[in-house]
Amino acid sequence: MTVKPNILLRKARDEDRDKVIWVESLSTPNLSYVQYVWDMFLNDKTGDWSVEEVDGEIFACGKYSILPDGSAWLETLRVIPARQGIGLGKRLYEHWLKLSKEKGVKTMRMYTGVKNVVSKGLAERYGFTLAETFHGTLMNSEPVELKPETDFKAITDTKQATELLMPLSEKWGGWMVMNRTYHKWSPELCKWLTEKGMVYRDSVGNVIVIGARFMPEFQLHIGLFDGDAEKCLDFAKKKAAARGVKTLHCLYPEYCVEAEKALTGNGFKMEAAPFIAMEINL
Ligand SMILES: CC(C)(COP(=O)(O)OP(=O)(O)OC[C@H]1O[C@@H](n2cnc3c(N)ncnc32)[C@H](O)[C@@H]1OP(=O)(O)O)[C@@H](O)C(=O)NCCC(=O)NCCS
Repeated sequence: MTVKPNILLRKARDEDRDKVIWVESLSTPNLSYVQYVWDMFLNDKTGDWSVEEVDGEIFACGKYSILPDGSAWLETLRVIPARQGIGLGKRLYEHWLKLSKEKGVKTMRMYTGVKNVVSKGLAERYGFTLAETFHGTLMNSEPVELKPETDFKAITDTKQATELLMPLSEKWGGWMVMNRTYHKWSPELCKWLTEKGMVYRDSVGNVIVIGARFMPEFQLHIGLFDGDAEKCLDFAKKKAAARGVKTLHCLYPEYCVEAEKALTGNGFKMEAAPFIAMEINL
């Protein structure tokens, strides 16, 4: 007879930091960022940052975030390999579904690598279905040669930015990806991007959304661009170089071939494998 593990799910506390970083280092050795987002996650008043203990020791963590459009974003789900398959992931999904019910959240989303069958299967078990498949591109940021200055300026008026971006969002399949957070375009997202100073336009109408949801010191993310791709991407490269970030990223639905052509034609490399976003409407 198998004994049911004694799982305790509780809110993360500041003193859990090192243990959770350890959990992440074993669960996703190629993707480690908890140390940089720890304070942001811990101080998130609208979301939830939880850990799971088995017999008093932390073996898993998971973050529930409310995005600007009011949907829930499930992220940083990590279970150490030695404790996978005993129900820790399922317990977190049950917690998140309960949170959504309490908060009146109508949509939940998550993403994973196209090859991560367990993560996908776990989401499907709770009713999530495939929303979109994405390609990713990136480039290392290097000092760029000084070309004649571009005149991109941040748009600070929310209404103006929303009127500009919402029609463009359709060309990008309705999605905006930043730090591997897959947002659906919405007026609320436009407002958030504008308030964070991430929406730029130049004097001839070229547009680019560029910024970071977190870790702005390491990576910059292009949410969309429209018009002269070379000019837009040149501005992005300059911005990345000026900020001293390591990499510049742009992810988009796999059928956005024009964006892909523009990116790969301007020095971006394809990520090794696609990503999938899954969602549930409650
Ligand atoms: C993905 C992950 C979070 C799952 O957590 P877990 O605690 O091992 O999962 P649980 O034991 O709670 O649940 C397992 C469920 O996953 C699903 N699953 C497991 N193996 C599967 C497979 N080969 N194919 C499809 N679904 C599968 C099933 O629904 C299973 O539940 P069931 O056996 O009752 O049907 C964990 O494996 C992990 O941390 N992996 C590395 C990091 C990661 O991939 N994070 C997520 C996205 S980046």
